[in-house]
Amino acid sequence: MLVNGTRMLQLAKRGHYAVGQFNINNLEWTKAVLLTAEKMKAPVILGVSMGAGKYMGGYKVVAAMVRALDESLGITVPVCLHLDHGNYDAAKACIEAGFTSIMFDGSALDLEENLKKTEELVAYAHDKGVSIEAEVGSIGGTEDGITADGEVADPLVCKRMVETGIDFLAAGIGNIHGIYPANWTGLHFDALDAINKATNNIPLVLHGGTGIPDDQIVHAIKEGVSKINVNTDCQLVFAQATIDYCAAGKAAPTGENKEKGYDPRKLLKPGYEAICAKVEEKIKLFGSDGKAC
Ligand code: 13P
Repeated sequence: MLVNGTRMLQLAKRGHYAVGQFNINNLEWTKAVLLTAEKMKAPVILGVSMGAGKYMGGYKVVAAMVRALDESLGITVPVCLHLDHGNYDAAKACIEAGFTSIMFDGSALDLEENLKKTEELVAYAHDKGVSIEAEVGSIGGTEDGITADGEVADPLVCKRMVETGIDFLAAGIGNIHGIYPANWTGLHFDALDAINKATNNIPLVLHGGTGIPDDQIVHAIKEGVSKINVNTDCQLVFAQATIDYCAAGKAAPTGENKEKGYDPRKLLKPGYEAICAKVEEKIKLFGSDGKAC
């Protein structure tokens, strides 16, 4: 069942759990996330970056694939198809293509420009029943070739962003995309508390979910985080499982390979299963298992 993200995240905020956003890259990724969410009876968000959208053949292809899989796999849990870190044009293109949610990332723009563009997109998205996330205080690290320094967002700026009418807010609190450096000092809970108080109970989004210690994740959910984005973690386990499979000689491209382990359906299976296990682990940690309704 494809839905926008508004209700599922408001319920998460009230229920003190978080919904996982798992970024997808291809058919295997999408199936793994959908079937695991269904198994766990968890609402779920499929994140699509601009780069991944292009890789999969365009936003229309992604929307058609997700809708068709949702139906043919008999998925009953709420599924939100969400653009991750989109620019203005991508946000509009995804709304037109049938996404149910968008993130407009104007964090690299001048603040007034970010607020103005967000406000325009709020009207455009809400007119079509699409939910919208915006960002204040850029998330550090590198994702899809875009690198930014981590910032801690100013609660007053967050308040202004919420006044544009957005449905959920990504506010930097020291989180970064990708693997955290050894000298990372952790999430800024004092900032999270101030942002939560300044933003009138709007669901808050924690980007860079990979590598944050479990106790900090649990603490962040307690302090008002209702959506947690995970991308690199699934990439890491997919890569490792595929490497192990190949290192064991199972994909050997020779006639001696009677199992035909080079068949892509076999070659990609360990990685697929590793994503399922990682998504299950995260859903349990976030507390969203059994929360589909
Ligand atoms: P990670 O790749 O660090 O898990 O971050 C994902 C993310 O925040 C997507 O927006």
